[in-house]
Amino acid sequence: MSDKLWIFDTTLRDGEQVPGCQLNTQEKIIVAQALEALGVDIIEAGFPISSPGDFNSVQEISKAVSNPIICALSRAVEKDIEVAAAALKYAKKGRIHTGIGVSPYHIQYKLRSTPEDIIRRGVAAVKFAKRFVDDVEFYAEDAGRSEPDFLCKIIEEVIKAGATVVNIPDTTGYTLPEQYGAIIASLKNNVPNIDKAIIATHCHNDLGMATANTIAGVQNGARQVEVTINGIGERAGNTSMEEVVMAIKCHKSIPVHTDIVTQRIYQTSRLVSKLMNMPVQPNKAIVGRNAFAHSSGIHQDGVLKHRENYEIIDPKEVGVEESSIVLTARSGRAALKHHLDALGVELEGEELREVYEAFLVLADSKRDIGRKDLLELVGKYMDES
Ligand code: KIV
Ligand code: ZN
Repeated sequence: MSDKLWIFDTTLRDGEQVPGCQLNTQEKIIVAQALEALGVDIIEAGFPISSPGDFNSVQEISKAVSNPIICALSRAVEKDIEVAAAALKYAKKGRIHTGIGVSPYHIQYKLRSTPEDIIRRGVAAVKFAKRFVDDVEFYAEDAGRSEPDFLCKIIEEVIKAGATVVNIPDTTGYTLPEQYGAIIASLKNNVPNIDKAIIATHCHNDLGMATANTIAGVQNGARQVEVTINGIGERAGNTSMEEVVMAIKCHKSIPVHTDIVTQRIYQTSRLVSKLMNMPVQPNKAIVGRNAFAHSSGIHQDGVLKHRENYEIIDPKEVGVEESSIVLTARSGRAALKHHLDALGVELEGEELREVYEAFLVLADSKRDIGRKDLLELVGKYMDES
């Protein structure tokens, strides 16, 4: 049996930081329940110190959801941690996620501190959080641009202080897959007590690398991935859950499995997009409108002969009823015939050739050819039959 990969969803925290995507408590509960049905292991429900509304949402989600661990974010500040713990009061399984910046940029310019002081503050935060919950996750913010020896040191110290999960964010989406994988490998190889904690990936998508970096992290020993539905999140977004889950499902060489009910992926994507008023780009992997649409003649012919000629995922596996064969000026005869057959008009040979030529003339002047257009094109043959 392969290792379990823990799916940590931060749609309601990092995802909800996107301008214009804010949800009210009731909407957050709806999303949290959909995430629970999807099989998510940990829901990061919010950042309770940030506003009374966020506090209330974490509290209400804790009451409304039973299976996943409910996680609340805090800075490495006692007041934040106390408020996070209070918000988690009703959680059946609660986790506090605390941490601090670890890159030279963050240490010098954001926190105006020193490496020694950052370790002291990180360790103190973990110890303080342990007073409230057993499950404490530490985030090493901007780990992607940190100095490797310093990262190993702080991770060793926070694990000694009781951190059960250590999160290694590529906060600025800067790293390449090889670099991010090497950071995780270096922690695995150089931190003596690393096996006492789970290593988590948390990647941002500024260079479009979030999914690739996350997978590289898993291949090098990370066993929790922090993701959002549709990849929403700060700036260019976070790692997209559906991409990671399906990449793992498609590639048996990645030695992990998830408990995600993949058949619920599409409906969850639609729900989040609708509630957050955030459209999904049509060519988005797995959940975009065109993810299972075939429009060129060569592809259509291939997919109609055998689905796997051009599809690596059965759309049903992610909750999409079926692939679509879209009719455009690039479509071939096989696609046209497929649509005509569905209308009950079975044309062959010369008749099909004639209709196909008329179809191409129409398709050159019109983007979408629908049922009504097809019925007009074949009207003559329908009358005759
Ligand atoms: O990107 C990041 O570093 C974060 C942390 C707060 C976990 O979101
Ligand atoms: Zn983040």
